[in-house]
Amino acid sequence: MANPGKGTFLITGGLGYIGSHTVVEMLLRNYNVVVIDNLSNSSELVLDRIAAICGRKPVFYPIDLCDRSSLEDLFATEKDLQAVIHFAALKAVGESVENPLLYYKNNLISLINLLDCMVSHSVHNLVFSSSCTVYGEPDTLPVTEKSPIKQAISPYGNTKQIGEEIIKDTTQSTQLRSIALRYFNPVGAHSSGKLGELPLGKPNNLVPLITQTAVGIFPFLRVFGNDYATPDGTCIRDYIHVEDVAIAHASACERLLSGNGKDYEVFNIGTGTGYSVLEVVKAFEQASGLTLPIQVENRRPGDIEKVFADTSLSNQILGWKASRSLSEMMRSAWVWQQSLNNKE
Ligand code: UD1
Repeated sequence: MANPGKGTFLITGGLGYIGSHTVVEMLLRNYNVVVIDNLSNSSELVLDRIAAICGRKPVFYPIDLCDRSSLEDLFATEKDLQAVIHFAALKAVGESVENPLLYYKNNLISLINLLDCMVSHSVHNLVFSSSCTVYGEPDTLPVTEKSPIKQAISPYGNTKQIGEEIIKDTTQSTQLRSIALRYFNPVGAHSSGKLGELPLGKPNNLVPLITQTAVGIFPFLRVFGNDYATPDGTCIRDYIHVEDVAIAHASACERLLSGNGKDYEVFNIGTGTGYSVLEVVKAFEQASGLTLPIQVENRRPGDIEKVFADTSLSNQILGWKASRSLSEMMRSAWVWQQSLNNKE
């Protein structure tokens, strides 16, 4: 049911992992939400989960952003859009190395189509899903938004760098205003237990691999390298609860709509605290009461040794701060994994 008087947001990739949590956050704030998703890495059933949490569904269009004419039709139909939150993209680092053109075509053509439609239909506000991958292996820690952008390690990472550039240039020549959010490592699941990550096939990321190992899908967790220059030798990342990431999008939208800020802004979205792979495993063991079998293996090519965010800019300017602990991240991921397992 549309909510008159409240803004309407288009959320691309709104049935995916971070997208669906953001749809929930925006619906709970009483905004109207229109979702586009091509269902390439998500399921329409997520709409029912969203409705179970929020009491209403977003308007849904099963559209691929690369399909320019369908996107034009949507913008012609949905005349009240105030902002777009753009998640829809491919995100598997390894796959992007094997098939770079797939990543450049999908992630960049979709962005260009979206920007063209936004400009021609006078939708002036965009929140873009970027990544800490743009910093590569940082020279100093924590990483601020002024830290240098390094040569991308993967085509996936390059699509985020190029995407930021395309958006920045567009804000300089049109009325578009945009905030790019550079997420660190989003993990965990919704506190309702009804939404979480649904990786297709074998996951690549640490937390789904931990929870799937815990339910016996894999015999052990492979720890990629214990000879890094870190206290326990394993890599350090800034893991952040997906619900905190979703709230950051709401804060970014509200900043854009308030008219404050510059035409193009970038914010780090992390907790500011780094944890090693072994610390994450330990937090999972404490949250689940299980012992996780692990096997130390060689370093994974392309991995960064250590990265965590300076979040002072997002804390001050967006008025946003991550509040959920590593143990909440692990607990929610574990509840979610068990709910998936119970259905099988
Ligand atoms: C990568 C990307 C990031 C992207 C994210 C989501 C880079 C540098 N990073 O993050 O941009 O948004 O994926 O797709 O491109 N690990 C293990 N065993 C495993 C899996 C992971 O030890 O089985 C370790 C990794 O070595 C790493 C940490 O866990 O130290 C986190 O890995 P992962 O969850 O894959 O995320 P990133 O590589 O940090």
